[in-house]
Amino acid sequence: MKINNVELLISAVRPAQYPEGDLPEFALAGRSNVGKSSFINKMIGRKSMARISSKPGKTQTLNFYKLEEDLLFVDVPGYGYAKVSKTERAAWGKMIETYFTSREVLKAVILIVDLRHPPTADDCMMYDFLKHYNIPCIVIATKADKIPKGKWDKHKKIVSDELQMEKGDPLVVFSSEKGLGFDAAWAEIESRM
Ligand code: GTP
Ligand code: MG
Repeated sequence: MKINNVELLISAVRPAQYPEGDLPEFALAGRSNVGKSSFINKMIGRKSMARISSKPGKTQTLNFYKLEEDLLFVDVPGYGYAKVSKTERAAWGKMIETYFTSREVLKAVILIVDLRHPPTADDCMMYDFLKHYNIPCIVIATKADKIPKGKWDKHKKIVSDELQMEKGDPLVVFSSEKGLGFDAAWAEIESRM
């Protein structure tokens, strides 16, 4: 899919701020610093629409991006960042839980993991959470540019085994750096619109 127009509709923290309308929505999820915002930028063909950083904890709010008049991507703050207080963590949990479980136009969650490493306990918890609420899930294993192609299959298997992925849930090898997996990721999204 070629995207020409992208608009940041709002940075929201509570449901009253979520944009109205019935466009299909796709939200990102994943560890802090795993590459969620970079994934969005690659998919929309912009370098820095969604703000990225080498420091974890860059994204703090639910950022709703409208792509053409077709769909929304929602950038979500990451989990598993050690340097946040208990209070902040609880607020994050509440914000995410409310959004994921109440948003009617949410078509799927795009769960970003790091292809180089086995999924963390938090990754597994997020996948289980999505399963529990019957929220469709597309798993993207990013930073594939950091390991040789010959090792991708082995790492893919570690990701799907560790998450105990259900058959039928897609796992796409991706690189925001190289644009790898771009078509496959779009195909998964478009098939759920
Ligand atoms: P938070 O907003 O803090 O939750 O992080 P995030 O998941 O949005 O991560 P972000 O996109 O900001 O990227 C974090 C770092 O990883 C940045 O330094 C990116 O340049 C880098 N990065 C993201 N994707 C890739 C990739 O596919 N390959 C490589 N080599 N680096 C990547
Ligand atoms: Mg981010």
